Amino acid sequence: GKAVMKLDRDFQIGEIDKRIYGSFIEHIGRAVYGGIYDPGHPLADDCGFRRDVIELTRELQVPIVRYPGGNFVSGYNWEDGIGPKDKRPKRTELAWFAVENNQMGTDEFCEWSRRAGTDVMMAVNLGTRGADAARNLVEYCNFSSGTYWSDLRIQNGYKEPHNVRLWNLGNEMDGPWQIGHKTAQEYGRLASETAKVMKWVDPTIELVACGSSNSGMDTCYDWETTVLDHAYDFVDYISMHQYYGNQEDDTPNFLANTMDMDHFIENIIATCDYIQAKKRSKKKINISFDEWNVWYHAFPENEKAVKWQEGPSFNEDIYNFEDALLVGGMLISLLRHANRVKVACQAQLVNVIAPIMTENGGRIWKQTIYYPYLHASVYGRGTALDVLVDSPKYDSKDFTDVPILDAVAVESEEKDYLTIFALNKGMQDLVTDCDLRDYPGCHVEEMLVYTSPDLKLSNSADCPDRVVPHTSSDYKLEDGRLTVKLAAYSWNVIRIR
Ligand code: AHR
Repeated sequence: GKAVMKLDRDFQIGEIDKRIYGSFIEHIGRAVYGGIYDPGHPLADDCGFRRDVIELTRELQVPIVRYPGGNFVSGYNWEDGIGPKDKRPKRTELAWFAVENNQMGTDEFCEWSRRAGTDVMMAVNLGTRGADAARNLVEYCNFSSGTYWSDLRIQNGYKEPHNVRLWNLGNEMDGPWQIGHKTAQEYGRLASETAKVMKWVDPTIELVACGSSNSGMDTCYDWETTVLDHAYDFVDYISMHQYYGNQEDDTPNFLANTMDMDHFIENIIATCDYIQAKKRSKKKINISFDEWNVWYHAFPENEKAVKWQEGPSFNEDIYNFEDALLVGGMLISLLRHANRVKVACQAQLVNVIAPIMTENGGRIWKQTIYYPYLHASVYGRGTALDVLVDSPKYDSKDFTDVPILDAVAVESEEKDYLTIFALNKGMQDLVTDCDLRDYPGCHVEEMLVYTSPDLKLSNSADCPDRVVPHTSSDYKLEDGRLTVKLAAYSWNVIRIR
């Protein structure tokens, strides 16, 4: 097949907020215990944090990490996780039916984030709690001193405030599975009143209201309409969550899910803007896509999970190569909407549906999905540019006219690099012409290609480098015209200077 990509300096989508390369750590499975925190590990630092996990978090240049949930936060008493560790209670944790020992808490996570070079996005519990616990947590984290909660933080060893700027008002409150699930009316009121007092404590914070848990929720869009009707003036972002799976082993249909993601984002933007119009407001509500990934491999194993364990193996999806392709496609979708998507968190960072895997006390390795995330985070900062694509299309079970080629470009912050991210979703190589005459004298500095002889291959602790990207020289650039062969089922990063 053949395809054409058209690029132009003026095809600007918008500035990329680096926070779209965020991640997520929840108190679930081995994300915290055995993941970021493993005090018995030979590489543990003085706080018990695994240095190798911090190193990979730094390599990924993760700008922000959401914490402590997820469904977990909807039953969490944050006060359980502060102060002397030997005094902290063990609790029944009702989101995942585990025992939470509270050895990690707010202070430790903020400290971990500093060591990992990332910011914190903190979620408050609007399931079993409300405005009071939330405003106290803001005071504990962000107030300098001289009040009950700020002085308690100082007493607990943190003289300087944690300065958490971005906050989630609960998690997936539209979902019947949520501890303390609410109707849109109930949640819209609670989110507004909680937002109000949190901002009274610290007017510099930004707040995210819960949107729909996925595009298939019956209440999707009605939920946002009602919630924003109440909360529009009090919040800054609405959240989106989305996971995809390939349970039916239908690769073309699985990879076409990027179209669902595009539509979902565009429909949420439309819903936000409808409320803006209705309220005659000058303010725009932007999107925090604070959970996204592939998630399905661990579902059968989860059925067998034993309840009431501390840090059990749970939701440890082992990702194959085709999952990495969809992750690349989801990153392209986020970049394509960079003007409105200001925050996004790949869920999650370590062990639980994660790019980084660890053994308790042992080795660390990178899953297939690590690589597109790495490429986008490192090379995808600056201004997002639309790429006009003309490519063959296909129909799949749930989608029609799916372009085989999906692409977006990024002009670097220093304006010295143009990076094209291109996904070939087809089973054949695609010879692609790209008009670069708007970039006179440019050359290809590097081309990274991620392919695999078998879509179902994964990495593991024993074979950590089975599926890794390589550099390619399968391109020709003459007179501003780039011709490149995009391999069948491939993720490509073309760096032009
Ligand atoms: O990331 C795993 C879970 O997925 C989160 O706890 C929840 O918010 C979502 O349903």
